[in-house]
Amino acid sequence: MKAIQTGATPSSLETLQLVDIDDATAPGAGEITVSLQASSLNYHDYAVVKGMIPAAQGRIPMSDGAGEVTAIGAGVTEYAVGDTVVSTFFPDWIDGEPPQSAFTRVPGDGIDGYARDAITAPTTWFTKAPKGYDAAQASTLTCAGLTAWRALFVDNAIKPGDIVLVQGSGGVSVFALQFAKMAGATVIATSSSDAKLEKLKALGADHLINYRETEAWGPAALGMTGGRGVDCVVEIGGPGTLDQSMLATRVGGHIALIGVLTGFAGPVQTALLMSKNLRVQGLTVGSRAQQLDMIAAIEANGIEPVISDHFALADLADAFRHQEANKHFGKICVDI
Ligand SMILES: NC(=O)c1ccc[n+]([C@@H]2O[C@H](COP(=O)([O-])OP(=O)(O)OC[C@H]3O[C@@H](n4cnc5c(N)ncnc54)[C@H](OP(=O)(O)O)[C@@H]3O)[C@@H](O)[C@H]2O)c1
Repeated sequence: MKAIQTGATPSSLETLQLVDIDDATAPGAGEITVSLQASSLNYHDYAVVKGMIPAAQGRIPMSDGAGEVTAIGAGVTEYAVGDTVVSTFFPDWIDGEPPQSAFTRVPGDGIDGYARDAITAPTTWFTKAPKGYDAAQASTLTCAGLTAWRALFVDNAIKPGDIVLVQGSGGVSVFALQFAKMAGATVIATSSSDAKLEKLKALGADHLINYRETEAWGPAALGMTGGRGVDCVVEIGGPGTLDQSMLATRVGGHIALIGVLTGFAGPVQTALLMSKNLRVQGLTVGSRAQQLDMIAAIEANGIEPVISDHFALADLADAFRHQEANKHFGKICVDI
């Protein structure tokens, strides 16, 4: 099996290495073997390979994996050889509330991930991909797709006519825009780039703000809603953006606290949070059951992921440099 491994602790892009691992495991009862064909980059994977999240030396990175089932073990009825499947972010979180153990066994972080060409694993580590999706498209769903889905439809329940604010044009935010439009919402989108704002508009964004040029984009968004405020923010920035998000949100509105792009901690206007009766909820991706719900919605509505770039597995470090330089729009995929 070919794989990429981290080559040092802490990890760095320079020490990622392509290796051959002897791993010809046949599937046991309740397991499948998947020929992995694609993965996709998330900021979380970037944090692992850059050593910002400590991972064991020799760790195979990447939380997302998709490919074709090549063998099934005894008792497996959910899949057939030839099915296209996509991995789940938390192999141990099947349904309901997240078990504590789920957070320690994230592929590409706590356990080996999907920067490799094959894996034999329990059936529950995967779901079927949406009908018509290729492996690259499917691989975008594990982390970015499901996070956006949960922010809008699991921890919140947006409805047609709601106003949703999405920040930037990365993987989570572009999915959030697509899902919000699918649900009949109005979308306010921000970006650091006017060219990317035009692309967000082409995907259906109704109102655009360049957050570099308009630092007070919270009040600007509030103004776009006639002073009422947005119903929901998909908050991927963290401490550097949360105050603006709170200014943009209506009384009683929901902020899905997802990202750390501006840091891991910082002061928060707690009085504003309280006086506007805001609901700020942290979230980490979602369960396998939520992934199945998302896939049903994708199939019913013909949603296609936005992939701006493809890299070969051997060029994974370059793919992360591309992400680091913020040259992408939506998702970067790795073809295996
Ligand atoms: N909690 C979870 O379950 C979960 C799951 C997935 C992701 N995340 C987090 O969510 C964040 C985004 O992840 P991702 O994988 O979607 O990243 P990504 O694809 O690398 O996207 C990053 C994008 O964010 C935008 N951005 C950067 N700084 C910003 C700021 N200050 N304000 C607004 N937008 C900003 C940029 O868009 P423009 O170029 O358009 O400005 C950039 O392209 C990361 O912090 C990641 O760790 C969390």
